[in-house]
Amino acid sequence: MKTILITGCSSGFGLEIARDFLERGWNVIATMRTPREDLLPPSEHLRVLPLDVTDPQSIHRLIDAAGPIDALVNNAGIGLLNALEGTSMDAARELFETNTLGTIAMTQAVLPQFRERAGGVIVNVTSTVTLRPLHLLSVYTATKAAVNAFTESLALELEPFGIRVRLVLPGRAPETRFGENARSRMSAGFPEAYTGLAQGVMNGWAQSTDPVTHAADVAEAVWHAVTDPASPMRLPAGADAVAWAAA
Ligand SMILES: NC(=O)c1ccc[n+]([C@@H]2O[C@H](COP(=O)([O-])OP(=O)(O)OC[C@H]3O[C@@H](n4cnc5c(N)ncnc54)[C@H](OP(=O)(O)O)[C@@H]3O)[C@@H](O)[C@H]2O)c1
Repeated sequence: MKTILITGCSSGFGLEIARDFLERGWNVIATMRTPREDLLPPSEHLRVLPLDVTDPQSIHRLIDAAGPIDALVNNAGIGLLNALEGTSMDAARELFETNTLGTIAMTQAVLPQFRERAGGVIVNVTSTVTLRPLHLLSVYTATKAAVNAFTESLALELEPFGIRVRLVLPGRAPETRFGENARSRMSAGFPEAYTGLAQGVMNGWAQSTDPVTHAADVAEAVWHAVTDPASPMRLPAGADAVAWAAA
C-alpha cells in the first residue's frame, strides 16, 4: 500500500485530498499546524501529524516521524488581497516563506529517500492566477509563479532518478477557508487610493455566476498527477481553471 503526505490538511483542498486518497486505499499522512483527529474519518491508514512548513525543526521532526513515503503534496498556502502599496514587507515575506520556501523546504526534505528508492512523486499546488493575472494579487501571484518555475526546472534534474514532479493549478475556490484565513493579513484595509478598485473587485466576485473550483476538482487533479506517469506537467483543477488554461 502506498503512502502520501499532504501539507495543509486542516481545511479546504488539503482536507479533501486526504479524504480522497484514504477512500482510494492509500496510507495518508495528513499534516496540520494544529493537528485535529476529528476532521477525517478514523482509519488505520490515517496518521495526523503536526507540520508548520515555515519551521525547519517542524519539517525535520515530521520527516523522522513519517517514515517512507511515495508521494508529497505541497498544498499548504496563504493568501493576501491588497494593492502592493498596502502590503507590508513583513506580509510579503510571510507569503513567500509559506507558499514558496515552504514548498522548496518540504521538497528538499523528501528528496534523499525518493532518490535512494529511485521513485516518488511531488505535486505542488499553485494557482491559475499565474496564467491570468487578477487585480490586487501581485505578491500572492509572485509566490505561486515562483513555484511553477521551481517545479518545471526541478522536474528536469529529478527525471534521471525516476522522480516525478507536477503542478496542480486550481481556479477560484470560494468554498474553502482561504479567503477567511487571508483576512487576518488584511486588517489594515486598502490604501485610500485603491478603495474604488478593491470595491469593484469584491463586488465582481460577489455577483459572479461564473463557474468556480471545488475541493473535489483539486483532489481529482492531484490523484491524476500522482497515479498517472503520463500526466502533463501542469494540471488545471476546476471548470474555471480548465477554461483559463485552454484560453
Ligand atoms: N481557495 C482558492 O481560491 C485557491 C485557488 C488557487 C489555489 N489555492 C491554493 O490552494 C492551497 C490550499 O488552499 P485552500 O483554498 O484549501 O485554503 P485553506 O482552506 O485556507 O487551506 C490552507 C491550508 O494551509 C495551511 N497552512 C497555512 N500556513 C501553513 C504553514 N505555515 N504550515 C503548514 N500549513 C499551513 C492551513 O492551515 P492552518 O489551519 O494551520 O492555517 C490550511 O490547512 C493553497 O496553497 C492556496 O494558495 C487556493
